[in-house]
Amino acid sequence: MSNHLFPEGFIWGTATSSQQIEGAVNQDGRGESIWDRFASKPGNISDGSRPDVACDHYNRWPEDIQQMQWLGLDAYRFSIAWPRIFPQGRGQVNSAGLDFYERLVDGLLAAGIEPYPTLYHWDLPQRLQDEGGWANRSIVNAYADYAEAVTRRLGDRVSRWVTHNEPWCIACLGHEEGHHAPGHKDPAEALAVAHHILLSHGRAVPVIRREAKNAEVGIVQIHCPAYPATNSADDQDAARWFDGGFNRWFMDPVFKGSYPADAVADRIAAGHLSSSEMPFVQDGDLGIISAPLDFLGLNYYSRNVMKVDENGRRVAVKVVPREELTDMDWEVYPEGFLRSLMTVHQDYSPPKIYITENGAAYDYPIGANGRIADTKRITYLREHLLALHQAIQSGVPVQGYFAWSQMDNFEWALGYEKKFGLYAVDTETQNRTAKDSAYWYRDVVAANAVDDSDSSPSQGESCEPEA
Ligand code: FCB
Repeated sequence: MSNHLFPEGFIWGTATSSQQIEGAVNQDGRGESIWDRFASKPGNISDGSRPDVACDHYNRWPEDIQQMQWLGLDAYRFSIAWPRIFPQGRGQVNSAGLDFYERLVDGLLAAGIEPYPTLYHWDLPQRLQDEGGWANRSIVNAYADYAEAVTRRLGDRVSRWVTHNEPWCIACLGHEEGHHAPGHKDPAEALAVAHHILLSHGRAVPVIRREAKNAEVGIVQIHCPAYPATNSADDQDAARWFDGGFNRWFMDPVFKGSYPADAVADRIAAGHLSSSEMPFVQDGDLGIISAPLDFLGLNYYSRNVMKVDENGRRVAVKVVPREELTDMDWEVYPEGFLRSLMTVHQDYSPPKIYITENGAAYDYPIGANGRIADTKRITYLREHLLALHQAIQSGVPVQGYFAWSQMDNFEWALGYEKKFGLYAVDTETQNRTAKDSAYWYRDVVAANAVDDSDSSPSQGESCEPEA
């Protein structure tokens, strides 16, 4: 066994998002979100559930902060619900919504935990969707006003700000594949949506810097490295194609001020763009989008293996047996995490990186002894932290890690059945139970180190976190 020590001052945290944990969708003047609407249509959420109550974090946040404190966290990443601040998307501010986040932030600070809020983690006010949502360029102004209202109220206490979570998911899951709200299946629209999200990010950067003291601003991108299934030219091109549309389409504008030419050509060939003059891109946009950032937030879960199938289509394939996949059907592939980190560092050199999400869905019951022995999650987290440690040793400037997630929650179109939490949440009683992974993570945080042996976490005398 050997212990891998992280750099002094390394930030350890957990992450959540508003729509996935808050519930209280009608409390204190909150407006409807696109996920409230999407989940109300039968068939959209696989287990038929809704986010109305979720983890009731809106009312139970003091208990959640106690659990974060028990974990020993340095920081907590959460998101702000736009429909709580502007129930109609723009116009009149709902100060009760801001009051909630002020209470949360003050509670975190009092517990010695630094807040890392994200302004947009997918819960768009439905009223803005009624005007076209992210496909309508006027949303960029509404987003800048929203960013201003939030940072004006909290900017004296909060200095790390994330504009958006995973623009790829918003654009493609929501507007091309249709699995996420608002459920559109229009690849051309998805490209305009992607551009307006990135533009709103760039517009918000100077607003946040103006309103928040010592602000550090970044964006969160999901990164999924692509591997060819074989060495054939076709499969290699399929991997290039996936990387272009999933990773580089969202990273190049932010860090290089341009869209990747090969991926633009792919979209022209597919008929999703008529020419490289993209109609939704106006003069000056890419300069705004590429405003220098203080950090990149990187989310990593798995890799994609790509091939061209018998029908000439580029498809992702599974290369390990079903039982080795997580409950999301994602391969456990820590080497891909190292590859993502090296690629991002070499191609874009962000001044610093936080791992803003990483984790795995596995469902374990509560045992007779009251414990949840989620060993596969511990293995997943350990192997990914070892890969991260290796990246840091190789010079990638990663300064923090946020496990997804603090607690089991509403996993979007997959409802409550996919469980990513360090804490289990009983959806009937709202009781939280620390899983073995929580005990394990607590040891990692305390030691600022991860060891490479398969030992179980120290449980001490008590199995229950101090309440
Ligand atoms: C990410 C999302 C997060 C959660 C995890 C599993 O793509 O940002 O909200 O759903 O996946």
